[in-house]
Amino acid sequence: MPAGLKGRLAGKTALIIGAGSVGEGWGNGRATSVLFAREGATVFGTDRDQAALANTADLAQAEGLSILTGTCDATNSQELDAMVADAHERLGRIDILVNNVGGSAPGDVVSMSDDVWARQMDHNLAYVFQSMKRMIPIMVAQGGGAIVNLASIAALRFFGPDCVAYAAAKAGVIKMSQVTAVKYAPQGVRVNTVVPGLMNTPLVTERLVKARSPDDAEGLIAARHAQVPMGHMGEAWDVAYAALFLASDEAKHVTGTELIVDGGLSATCVAPNPNA
Ligand SMILES: NC(=O)c1ccc[n+]([C@@H]2O[C@H](COP(=O)([O-])OP(=O)(O)OC[C@H]3O[C@@H](n4cnc5c(N)ncnc54)[C@H](O)[C@@H]3O)[C@@H](O)[C@H]2O)c1
Repeated sequence: MPAGLKGRLAGKTALIIGAGSVGEGWGNGRATSVLFAREGATVFGTDRDQAALANTADLAQAEGLSILTGTCDATNSQELDAMVADAHERLGRIDILVNNVGGSAPGDVVSMSDDVWARQMDHNLAYVFQSMKRMIPIMVAQGGGAIVNLASIAALRFFGPDCVAYAAAKAGVIKMSQVTAVKYAPQGVRVNTVVPGLMNTPLVTERLVKARSPDDAEGLIAARHAQVPMGHMGEAWDVAYAALFLASDEAKHVTGTELIVDGGLSATCVAPNPNA
């Protein structure tokens, strides 16, 4: 590490896609962005929601840190091209990519419309393919890099809610990360996945309560806490610290694997809870 640089990501540059949050407070992408900046990285955060992105930058600034920003809908190829070019130009090189965008829609194979299925695939899986397609040549040309993709415990276990497209897409993220890791390991590009379980982020109150239990937010939140062996949901910082490890040189021999952050949920055999 060059003299004077401090932090687990000192001297590194990072592009974080989905750096805002669906609501006030700390979502996974927001916490990851601020944590990476705290650890010495120069961070470029992107999000389709300009206000949510600005809020992340403001929170960093309140700690005396600075985050570069640019808006982009990651499911739009032209916007993705322009954003990657902008991030590359402003960062000089891109050592770390975090693909954090994602979210579930309710439905099983019978009840889910074709349209929702297609949008879930774009939102959770296809953009990860598109962003890695653009970033890996940059990383190979500069001699390596680290990619962290976000999956979900829904990819590994059925724990209650019907979210068929989300589960399938997140399982796809895991497998795509593994095969990409093997393919580009010789060129120094590491690809790993963080697999969050039930996390208490703004996504729960802003999206899940509205979709699954609009009349009983407290009930849904209590059920989610109770389902986790540790007795409570995780928080965004648990996901952010897992991403930090995988992005850092501490994980220099770690590629093609998953880091599950679920308080023990996937190690259990509990009754599914449709409202979790
Ligand atoms: N919170 C949980 O309980 C939980 C559990 C398991 C997995 N995850 C995964 O964690 C990741 C996100 O967590 P979060 O807490 O940051 O969620 P979040 O919804 O709060 O933040 C995601 C950000 O992505 C942005 N975004 C959405 N679509 C976009 C697009 N097309 N282009 C650019 N930006 C877009 C949103 O505006 C938002 O700011 C997702 O991949 C999610 O599936 C979350």
